[in-house]
Order: sequence, then structure tokens, then C-alpha cells
Amino acid sequence: PAPTPGFPLPTEHTQEAFDPASDFTSKWTRADAKQIMAQSDPTVAPGENSMSPDVTMPEIPEDFPTMNEDVWVWDTWSLTDENANQISYKGWDVIFSLVADRHAGYGFDQRHWNARIGYFFRKTNADPAKDKWNYGGHVFADGASIGNTEWSGSTRLMQGNQVNVFYTATTFYDIAERNAGGGGIAPDASIAKALGKIHADENGVTFDGFKHTNLLEPDGEMYQTKEQNPGFAFRDPYTFADPAHPGKTFMVFEGNTGGTRGEYECKPEDLGYRPGDANAESVDEVNSSGAYYQTANVGLAVADNKDLTKWSFLPPILSANCVNDQTERPQIFIQNEGGKNKYYLFTISHQFTYAAGMRGPDGVYGFVGDGVRSDYQPMNNSGLALGSPTDLNLPSESPEAPTPNQNGRQFQAYSHYVQPGGLVQSFIDNVNGVRGGSLSPTVKINFRDGISQVDRSFGQDGLGPFGYLPTNLRVGGEGHY
Ligand code: FRU
Repeated sequence: PAPTPGFPLPTEHTQEAFDPASDFTSKWTRADAKQIMAQSDPTVAPGENSMSPDVTMPEIPEDFPTMNEDVWVWDTWSLTDENANQISYKGWDVIFSLVADRHAGYGFDQRHWNARIGYFFRKTNADPAKDKWNYGGHVFADGASIGNTEWSGSTRLMQGNQVNVFYTATTFYDIAERNAGGGGIAPDASIAKALGKIHADENGVTFDGFKHTNLLEPDGEMYQTKEQNPGFAFRDPYTFADPAHPGKTFMVFEGNTGGTRGEYECKPEDLGYRPGDANAESVDEVNSSGAYYQTANVGLAVADNKDLTKWSFLPPILSANCVNDQTERPQIFIQNEGGKNKYYLFTISHQFTYAAGMRGPDGVYGFVGDGVRSDYQPMNNSGLALGSPTDLNLPSESPEAPTPNQNGRQFQAYSHYVQPGGLVQSFIDNVNGVRGGSLSPTVKINFRDGISQVDRSFGQDGLGPFGYLPTNLRVGGEGHY
């Protein structure tokens, strides 16, 4: 790409694949993420969108429908198989969402402390514009899961009618914190799974028989522990098979670089500037800015048995040290390009988790390489694949306290998840001050060779149906019981 005057060039990445068990960790560098601002328009009127339309999510209308009157809905995923196919089970589409009670006296921003995994189902041939998702309730019985709060994960259909629900077992110790939100004693977090059964009949879908197993706790070396940082992240498991390594099951998850918070020192590889780049920062400059506090990574683990009850950590596949503190809900999306499998790693991140001197929107970020572990090339040279409309010339804010002079849609959606066909679903957070807790209109991105573009011919000016998570593979027939 032609350099933008005043900005550094992005880091050169080969996309070369390495053995998943090797210790090569790809870096999302400051030089890479600086391209977000290099590609942003510095001349827009304050509060307009400064990002390219190619990476900007179309505007969600303020009068969006409420998906369910009783629960707030946020992070959502479909029933899938090990190849990320979205499964129609006996004629029903099934989705899983973090949910929290709308009538319990706490607000939308307190949802994290009260999160449970709920599910919805809808006839596979339903009209996504008219037919509502039916709410099936919580997936697990009260008190059955490991931990007292259930955070994000993924659900896989196994043999017959067995399902594995992978989830984050979060345990809060401070009840006041659960009710008020924030502060208090840091939670524990582990990655867990529950093996149970799915049932379907003409009335819908139910689950039962769940047996919970704790799978992984951070090791403090590759993945940061609560003792090392009360604000650590260890969550959001997503499991998959890799055609390049048949017979193995892998998991990606959100982590932070191991070590005590504040002790990390930013390294030349984290900055990633090309030799002699006149717009490069020095390592000393970056370290004295405090950018070492932000140490996100995307973790990798491999299953040691067929039951998927035993797992071993592998080194992280991506780090964002000195760039960003959270790379959430990672997923691997394999796409054939010119006869070759290209691996897209997608992960969501926030504006408020960027390191000093860095700026980007809430949205989904993508990286492409030749294998699960590779020298990932950030999509669009920056990493940004799809963000909420934001004026990046103004300072970063958080969804709880946006200022009126910013773009009213800077927090319109979060937790973007890329589904087959490039369909991206997410949840509505804050549209011009109207709080969400419902699924967004699904949008579509077209991508190849690491370059993506929002498809504005999809749906109405780029906005598809609300909560559109279509299935692409049928299991158990069309619904003859
Ligand atoms: C993303 C997220 C996940 C986490 C959940 C908790 O929106 O932060 O990383 O599992 O929300 O509510």
C-alpha cells in the first residue's frame, strides 16, 4: 500500500504456516494497528464517521425490535460442527446467547455479573424478517455450571444427539459487585465444557443431562492468571478441526500474556517498524507511555483425548502486546482461495482497551495466514475488518459513558461473529443513546486475500434481517418426528 504521510508502514508478515505446537506467536504490531488511523479521514466534521465505508458497519435504526422482553441478549453463537458449519437440527435452527434478566433491578451494563447461557430456536425455513426466535430458557439448570456466572463459548453437535457446550466459568465472590457492577473482588475464570443431549420435536428444542468438566485454568507462563492481574482475561473457547492436522481438535480462546501486570516491557517486535522508518516510535518512547499495560493474546490449546475432557496449552497464536488488552471471542474461519486453504482468525475488540498512542473502533478484527499458527497478515493491513461508525479523531470512550459530540453509533454493536458466507451477526449495545440487549441486523462482508469490504447490496443498504443466523447443514432430517 502507498504510505500515508506522517504514518509508519505496516509490519511485513509472510503468512507462512508453522507447526501448531511450535512457539511462533504472530504479532499484531503497533505499526500494523497504526494503519487504522492512517486509513481514517482526519477532515470529517466532529462526530461523523471517519473510517472507510468498506470497514464501517451500516447504521442500525434507533427503533430496532426487542428480541425478547424478559432477557437482555448479547454474545451469541450457533449450534455448529467441528468445521464451523451451522447446523439445522431436525428442522430447527438453534442459537445460544448470553442472557440476563431484564426485570431483576439491575441495568444492561450489569449484565456481565449476571450472565447465563440461554438458547433460542426457530424453524429452519422461517422468514427471518417476520418469525421471532423462540426463547427456550437457560441451557443449564440453576447452580449446575462450574462457577456462578456463565460467559461466552461455543456449542458443538457431537455423535447422535450429544452436544458439547464449551463456556467460560466465571466466579464472582462479591455479591455487591454482582449487583452494582465493577470494583470488588476479581472473579476467577476457567474454561469448561458440559456434555449433554439435544432433543427436538414439533414443539421445539430442549436440552438435558449435562455433565460439566473443568478444562483449563491459566498457567501464568503463557496465559496470565488472576493473581498476576485482577483484570486478566481468560475466556471464550471456540473448538475446531484443522484439515491440515486430521484427527486433532484445537481450541482458540481469549488470553493475556503471562506475567505480573505492569512488568511487561514492550519489545521491538511488538512495535514492528521497518528499519529506518521515519515515522517509527522508539521502544523507550512506547514503554514510557505505559503501553506495556495492554497485553492481549489469542490462545491455542489441543485436545488430548477424543472425549475432549483433557486439553494442553500451546503458545498463543497471536499477541497484541503494547497494542490492545483484549482480543475476545476468537474464531478460525477457513476459506478456500485459489485452491488453497486460507485461515482467517477473527476476534473482537474495544476502543477503550487500546494502548497509549493507539486508536481504533469497537468491532471485529481479522488476520489471515496459511495455517492455524502462521505469521498472520492483519486484514486491510490494519487488522480492522468491521467497526461501528466512529470519529476516530476524537478520544476513545466506553459504552457506559459516551459523550454527545461523538458519533451516536460508535457503540451501536459489539461481539461480531463471522458466519459462513461472510454473514456477520452481533448484538446491539447503544444506538444514539437507546440501549440494546438484542441482536443486530446481520451484515455481510466479502473478503479475499486479506482485504474486506462491507456488502452494501446485501439486505437494505447493507443491513440484513435482525438476528439472522441461518444454518447451512441439516442433521436429522427436516422435522419428521
Ligand atoms: C464480549 C465479552 C466476552 C465475555 C462476555 C461477558 O462481549 O466480554 O469476552 O465472555 O462478553 O459478558
